[in-house]
Amino acid sequence: ETELLFKGKTFLITAGPTKEKIDPVRYFTNRSSGKMGYALAEQAALLGADVLLISGTNALPDPKGVKVIHVESAADMYDEVMANLDQSDVIIKSAAVADYRPKQVFDSKMKKQPGNVAIEMERTKDILLELGKKKKHQFLVGFAAETDNMEEYARDKLIRKNADMIVANNVTKEGAGFAGDTNIVTIFHKDLSSTPLPLLSKKETARRILLEISEKLGDDHRL
Ligand code: PMT
Repeated sequence: ETELLFKGKTFLITAGPTKEKIDPVRYFTNRSSGKMGYALAEQAALLGADVLLISGTNALPDPKGVKVIHVESAADMYDEVMANLDQSDVIIKSAAVADYRPKQVFDSKMKKQPGNVAIEMERTKDILLELGKKKKHQFLVGFAAETDNMEEYARDKLIRKNADMIVANNVTKEGAGFAGDTNIVTIFHKDLSSTPLPLLSKKETARRILLEISEKLGDDHRL
């Protein structure tokens, strides 16, 4: 019975874009709508999990039966994820987190000046990488949004970030990745096997990812 597949398990799922402030009226962000992460949260809850969704700003209503914490920046997301790491069994990082943020955030609106302007950017903390270092019993799932060399980069992320699974979307394919209601992903496992999924709704993609997680939890990952 799949209904109770994740009963007693706590999932921490991240979704959506982060916003990195420049000044009180401007920010850097990306095209993530939150749909992939929200679909995962909703479907995990339907399969019996206790779900905490940590979400960047987006237009979606909170999914039913899911606890939601709303955050804005990559730094806020980092703090909330780390604060909730210990009580989680499965972590899925589907958020599109900024890799860079403005080094200086202005307290008042930047004024127009003649000529060009340069904004210096600094690296944000890599949440997935830190989770890979800190995790104990947790099953860690990362995403990869790649335009080239999808397999190579996905396998590299799996090893370098100590993840248990990487879900890669080739964002150059029609119907895959950011914003739409569908996705095309390949799931990469630690044992070097991979599962390519066809074009599916994000809801169905979420279910298939969760079923693969469930299989792996049963196989080789004791919770
Ligand atoms: O939200 P939608 O519109 O439905 O779109 C879904 C999606 C394309 C955003 C989603 O499927 C997806 O691929 N999410 C991850 C996007 C991403 O940031 O990929 P990346 O290759 O840059 O990052 C790899 C992994 O590291 C991700 O799990 C990401 O959450 C994580 N990361 C990245 C940077 C950072 N500072 N901290 C992180 O944890």
